[in-house]
Formats: sequence, structure tokens, C-alpha cells
Amino acid sequence: MSDLICVLYISRATFKPLPATKGIEPNVGRILQASRTNNARRGVGGVLFYGDGCFFQCLEGERDIVKPLLETIRQDERHTDIRVVSEQSAKQRYFEDWTMKYTSINDAVKTMLKTHGFERFDPYQFDANHFRALLKTLKDINDEGPADLPDEPPNPSDSDTPKRKAPTIPKTDASNDPLARGLAFAALVVALVALVLALF
Ligand SMILES: Cc1cc2nc3c(=O)[nH]c(=O)nc-3n(C[C@H](O)[C@H](O)[C@H](O)COP(=O)(O)O)c2cc1C
Repeated sequence: MSDLICVLYISRATFKPLPATKGIEPNVGRILQASRTNNARRGVGGVLFYGDGCFFQCLEGERDIVKPLLETIRQDERHTDIRVVSEQSAKQRYFEDWTMKYTSINDAVKTMLKTHGFERFDPYQFDANHFRALLKTLKDINDEGPADLPDEPPNPSDSDTPKRKAPTIPKTDASNDPLARGLAFAALVVALVALVLALF
């Protein structure tokens, strides 16, 4: 029988942030890449947030998979001061479609922080209400991870492990692209002028 849990923890990054490549701090990018690859195989999901040198992560999955994973994450030297803020049984996943959704500080988070009287992201000052508000904000906003992080196929030998897929990145739809629409319209006008000239 399924024994789903949801663990929330905070921690402090130990690395000095480098300039972002592909929109993400490179150390965080590597963490996210490993997380998505491993979590897809293990049926784990959730969200990772990184801002102002701190992490907030929600890990969701089967208890006997999430608990050892949390211990592995605890040993990771890329962060310290790990504090589990909540560990609860869950009926269903909050981040249903994600092996690991990712966001950093953006307008929605800034607004949430301001609303609760914070100038910056300092989760060590948060109470349960603040974590609830942060979770809701992270649930509602778009993922910011780079498009080319791996979406590894599940290992067929893990047949009793629930499989989770990294989300697919929506492809650009030409009908929504103003440039493509403009070019199509110009081509139509040229074709009509050519037709009129040919007729007269
Ligand atoms: C803030 C933070 C969050 C992490 N989250 C995950 C995660 O969700 N899943 C995961 O497999 N590893 C995660 N890791 C990485 C693990 O600590 C560890 O490096 C990784 O699982 C080892 O994977 P490997 O055996 O494939 O090298 C995280 C690390 C940090 C610092």
C-alpha cells in the first residue's frame, strides 16, 4: 500500500554563487539535474527553491524512498544548517507532475515575501504560515529550470517503483508567435498583389 509523505526542509548554500548560465546558478543547475534524473527513477517529486543563498525543498514520495534520500541530501556538502520544518503523511502529491520543479526569487515570491514583511528570503525566520504561503506561491508559478535538463526514461527493472516523468517543455506554437503571424500576413498581401497584377 502507498505510504506517501511530504517533507519540507530549509538549508543554507555553502557555495559562493556564480553568474547564472542558462538562467540558473551553475551549482544549483547541477543539483537540479541530478535531482530530476534520480527522482524520476525513484518516483520522487516536489519543488526546489533557491534564493538569497538559501534552499527550500519539498520532497514528495513513498516514505521508504524519501527518508533515505533526505539522509543523502543531509550529507551533501553544498549546503548546511539543514532544518526539517515539516514531515507529514500525504493523501496526494502537491507537485503532482514534477520530478523536481525549480524556481528562484521572482516577482511572485518577492510579493509573497513583502506581504509577510520580509525584505529578503530568510526561511529561518519563517513560521508555518509563511511556509504555507511560499508553497502555494511555488505551486502557482512557472518552472525556471533550463529546458535541456534530462528527462531520463524510467529503468524497466524498477517495475514496482512508481514512475514519474520530468515535465515536457511546451514547444513554441507558430500561431502564437507575432513574427510568424506578421510574415504570413505579408506573404498573403504579396500573393494578392501578384494575383491582381496578373489579372489586369
Ligand atoms: C539542496 C539540495 C537538494 C537536493 N535534492 C535532491 C533530490 O531531490 N534528489 C536527489 O536525488 N538528489 C538531490 N540532491 C543531491 C544529493 O545530495 C546527492 O548529491 C545526489 O542524490 C547523488 O546522486 P548520484 O548518486 O546520482 O550522484 C540535492 C542536493 C542539495 C544540496
